[in-house]
Amino acid sequence: MSLSIRGFRDDFCGEGAGVDCTAPLSSEDVAEIEVAMDRYAVLVFRDQPLSDEQQIAFTRHFGRLEKYETPGDVRKPTDRRLGPGIADFSNLTPDGRIMSGDDRIWLFKLADQLWHSDSSYRPVTAKYSLLSGRIIPSWGANTEFADMRAAYDALDPRTKAEVEDLVCEHSLIYSRAAIGFTELTETEKANFRPVRHPLVRKHPRTGRKSLFLSSHAGAIVGWTIPEAQIFLRDLTEHATQREFVYSHVWRPHDLVIWDNRVTMHRARRFDRSEVRDVRRTTLTDDAPFLTEAPQ
Ligand SMILES: [Fe+2]
Repeated sequence: MSLSIRGFRDDFCGEGAGVDCTAPLSSEDVAEIEVAMDRYAVLVFRDQPLSDEQQIAFTRHFGRLEKYETPGDVRKPTDRRLGPGIADFSNLTPDGRIMSGDDRIWLFKLADQLWHSDSSYRPVTAKYSLLSGRIIPSWGANTEFADMRAAYDALDPRTKAEVEDLVCEHSLIYSRAAIGFTELTETEKANFRPVRHPLVRKHPRTGRKSLFLSSHAGAIVGWTIPEAQIFLRDLTEHATQREFVYSHVWRPHDLVIWDNRVTMHRARRFDRSEVRDVRRTTLTDDAPFLTEAPQ
């Protein structure tokens, strides 16, 4: 493999070339891609016509797939369109029809259009997410990424000191409440119980600090809810200014990889009468509180 990266910015988002993601990688290839991920946090690989099995195999080069007993959405197990190991982010029903505008799953997934870090509502959050574009609508549907390292660096000294030791509570209940989706069953509420994560994290390989924000964050330990939510909203506004953001315009068979520990992202609107079929594999982070970089 001869990986080459064209960075969109100096150290945020790059387009990789010279990699066939449908084929097995050597350990040198994997190490090269990880080094590029450390630098750019988001990598785009064009023209990768992956099957689900190939996407899963490629993902496994970089760690362990996420596996949880509790669901991260409101789908019934019988409503799944895809097999295990890959998540369905399409607007399709299990029998391949476009979801209706009042489909509960569609409404729940609309909150993916809020800035978030994947699985920040899990006790162990996500490392990389890998999103494969299979069918792309003709309008909209970009995915935007925000560099949370740059956002941290740009905080004023007072705010930097203030956020240093704060711990947030994350839950799908908070991100759904933000768009008025509040009708959850008792089982769903139990599944979506809040978990705690530090607001400032150090990347385990680079040691670089970043803000760990997400629309799933709805409380700060020791703070009142209104004060916490207004502060988190303020920080999110700061972190998602245009200078920190890359907007990905999808082409069919793009594979986009991002590091959830140092970025936030959001889906953008599209015409829901058109099919959008994108499929995600997700790697689990190795430990719940990676606040220290290795020596
Ligand atoms: Fe996401």
